[in-house]
Amino acid sequence: MRSRWSASVYDDQHRLSEGEIETLLRAAQWAPSAGNSQPWVVFVCVPGTANHDRLVATLSRGNSGWVPRASVVFVTAAHVRTGEEPDAPAYSDYALHDVGQAAAHLTLQARSLGLHAHQFAGFDHDALAEALELPPTHRLVAGIAVGVLGDPADVDERTAARDHRDRVRKPLGEWAFGGRFGEAPVADGLADSVS
Ligand SMILES: Cc1cc2nc3c(=O)[nH]c(=O)nc-3n(C[C@H](O)[C@H](O)[C@H](O)COP(=O)(O)O)c2cc1C
Repeated sequence: MRSRWSASVYDDQHRLSEGEIETLLRAAQWAPSAGNSQPWVVFVCVPGTANHDRLVATLSRGNSGWVPRASVVFVTAAHVRTGEEPDAPAYSDYALHDVGQAAAHLTLQARSLGLHAHQFAGFDHDALAEALELPPTHRLVAGIAVGVLGDPADVDERTAARDHRDRVRKPLGEWAFGGRFGEAPVADGLADSVS
């Protein structure tokens, strides 16, 4: 888990085998979910396929330089409503939580296979939902680009620089409370620690 980070420079010649893609999907499949509702849908976008073209056409400017170079991109959706009408009851109150959890499992499985993964939300959700014929019972959530590290010389300077940014986190004291909201964390000395 500590070796995970969101890489942006991918080797665009690298491809994953069907078995590797299946292993990544199985990691998501076996994530826990509220009432075992499994509210996730995953679109698999392999370079050269129609799904990949659909995704690339909707990427934000900031993501269009690096996402297409990944070996495979997964796009997650959540089953949010039981019916097509906007006021239909929720499919699960925890649908987004569970889709995020499935994404985390897939992302860590990628690391375990020696791959890198980078999640992203910067794409035109409405346009991609339409292109993928996503029913109104579902909502697109995020993309997960997966691949192996590439040569920074093969990408533009801005993309290459992304992989040298400092990775920072809020200290535990800001969000891990041993008492009421805002009260001291579980152990002395943890409040200011970041790692
Ligand atoms: C839901 C979600 C959306 C994100 N959207 C983008 C994005 O559109 N573009 C991008 O470059 N990174 C995106 N990221 C990556 C985050 O910026 C990154 O995870 C965060 O800076 C922490 O860095 P780390 O993953 O290396 O620990 C996204 C991550 C998540 C989980």
